[in-house]
Formats: sequence, C-alpha cells, structure tokens
Amino acid sequence: MAILSLRNLTYAYQDGATQRYVLSDISYDFEPGRFYAILGNSGSGKTTLLSLMSALDAPRSGEVLYQGTDIQKLGYEGFRRNHVSIVFQSYNLIPWLTATENVLVAMDITDNKLPADQRAVATNLLSYLGIDATRAERRVPQLSGGEQQRVAIARALATNVDLILADEPTGNLDETSSEEIVQIFKALAHEHDKCVVVVTHAAEVANEADEVLNLSKGVLGEVTGGAAVAAAVAPGDPMVAAAAAPGTPAFAAPSGPAVAAPGGPVSAAPAVPSTAAPAASDSDSEREALV
Ligand SMILES: Nc1ncnc2c1ncn2[C@@H]1O[C@H](COP(=O)(O)OP(=O)(O)OP(=O)(O)O)[C@@H](O)[C@H]1O
Ligand SMILES: [Mg+2]
Repeated sequence: MAILSLRNLTYAYQDGATQRYVLSDISYDFEPGRFYAILGNSGSGKTTLLSLMSALDAPRSGEVLYQGTDIQKLGYEGFRRNHVSIVFQSYNLIPWLTATENVLVAMDITDNKLPADQRAVATNLLSYLGIDATRAERRVPQLSGGEQQRVAIARALATNVDLILADEPTGNLDETSSEEIVQIFKALAHEHDKCVVVVTHAAEVANEADEVLNLSKGVLGEVTGGAAVAAAVAPGDPMVAAAAAPGTPAFAAPSGPAVAAPGGPVSAAPAVPSTAAPAASDSDSEREALV
C-alpha cells in the first residue's frame, strides 16, 4: 500500500489579480522501501511540492493521503510531528547545540513512542550515520558540511517516522560526501523500509534512485532510463551548463560510474545498525529498530 498518495494536487498563488499555477493536477503514489528522486528546473515547483507532501502548506485543490487518509483529516500538525521528516540543503541545525543535542531536540517534539534512553538512541543513530562519539559532542559549526548533513539525517530519523523528504540534500556537499549521503538514503529505503523522496539537481543522485520523477510545467512525470535522467537534469540549469566544458556532456554517460565502486568512498556508508536500538524490544520491526 502506498504510504503517501497525491490525488489531483493543484497549487497556485496570487500575483496581483492573477492566479499563478505552480502544480497542476498531480497524482502519484509513493511506496515504502523505495528511494525516489524528483528532478526539475529551478522554479518548477519542487520545493512547493515537498511543502504540500510535508503539510507545511495546503494545496488549492486535491488531497495528500497518508496511508489512505487525507492529511487534513489527520491534522497537519500531528502529521508533521509524527509521520514525516525533512532534510534541507542547508541542514537547518541549531548551531549552539551539539550534534547529539540537535537529535534530542527532535525527539522531544514527536508523539511517537521512543525508547526511554533517548541519549543512547541519539548516539546510536549518529554512529549509524558515521558520526562518532567525539564528533557527536561537538557543536554544529565544528562539523564539516557532510557531517552536518549526517546529523540532520539522524535528526530526521530520530522521531521514528517512515517518510523522509529531502530538498537538495547534497546541494552543498562535495562529490564524495554527496555519494555517501545518497548511499545512506538508499540504505534507509532498502534496508529499513523508509520511503525516501529526494529533490535534486544532480544526475548522480537520480541515477541511484528506484524511481526518477520530473516536474515540468506543473506536471509530475516518471523518467525512465539514464539518458532521460541526464536530459531532465541538463536543460535550463545554469549550474549544469556552466560546469560542462564545451563539447563535453554535462554529466557522465548513463553507463558511466554513477557512484564509486565498492571499496571506494561509498564503503564509508553505514553498516546496518544492528546495535542501534538497545532500548527497543526485539519484536519491533526493523524500521523501528533504527531508533
Ligand atoms: N506562496 C507563493 N507566493 C509566491 N510565489 C510562490 C509561492 N509559492 C511558490 N511560488 C513560486 O513558484 C515557483 C516555484 O517555486 P519552488 O520554490 O517550488 O521551485 P523549485 O523547483 O523548488 O526551485 P529551485 O530548484 O530553485 O529550488 C517559484 O517561481 C516561486 O517563486
Ligand atoms: Mg527548491
């Protein structure tokens, strides 16, 4: 069963006397255990779509269903608190707190049942994401961008939600950190049954996704095949155009190595956190075992 369904979603904003449509009649089913990438030119409405999917804004018409129930009926606030987490390009961590404290703050907000020893959970989550005990006690500015994004993902997981949305999460990261973060998202979907939806401009991220979607002219469509992914990323994206030397493709050919070979930087991606849930009961699902 779909975890999140979009039903005829439309979004428009008022510009003087004119209604400007950003999203028009979007319907799609997101499944658990899958990693989705959403591509689209700047201004195509990707962040707007994530806002509707995370109840930060309401559609003009249509519905967002969480496990079959309209999130408006569930209550936007409760849905945000208990069912969905967002990871941002700029991490959005609280700078005067340590990595661990940032994760603990998130655990305070949710109504979801969490193990009693929340500090142990935070430490294990951070460790799962490659933040060791020393770094976990550092304040945010003393961590690298890649490390900060890992903390933001730990925070997103700390509330034990099964829907993770990310808005250009690798946009500020170098290639290696970016690959590692993508491998983390993949593992969350494939090994922990999360539904992971990532908005990205990067073909390297999209090439790793189970489903690639493209948002264009307010319509969400599926993209099939690596060449189509490269085409969906490239047009109208000045960053891509600027990066490509004349006569060379903006991105590696679809058959090229989208990520490092095993044993490369990707091997730094986390192992399955078998020790991640000291306080969780054995009967909990694997998904719950993350916290
Ligand atoms: N409430 C609003 N009021 C005014 N304009 C809005 C509103 N919501 C969205 N827009 C406009 O809709 C368009 C889509 O914005 P959105 O941020 O979703 O694009 P995006 O695909 O995320 O772009 P980027 O890749 O640059 O982040 C933009 O032109 C934005 O300014
Ligand atoms: Mg955006």
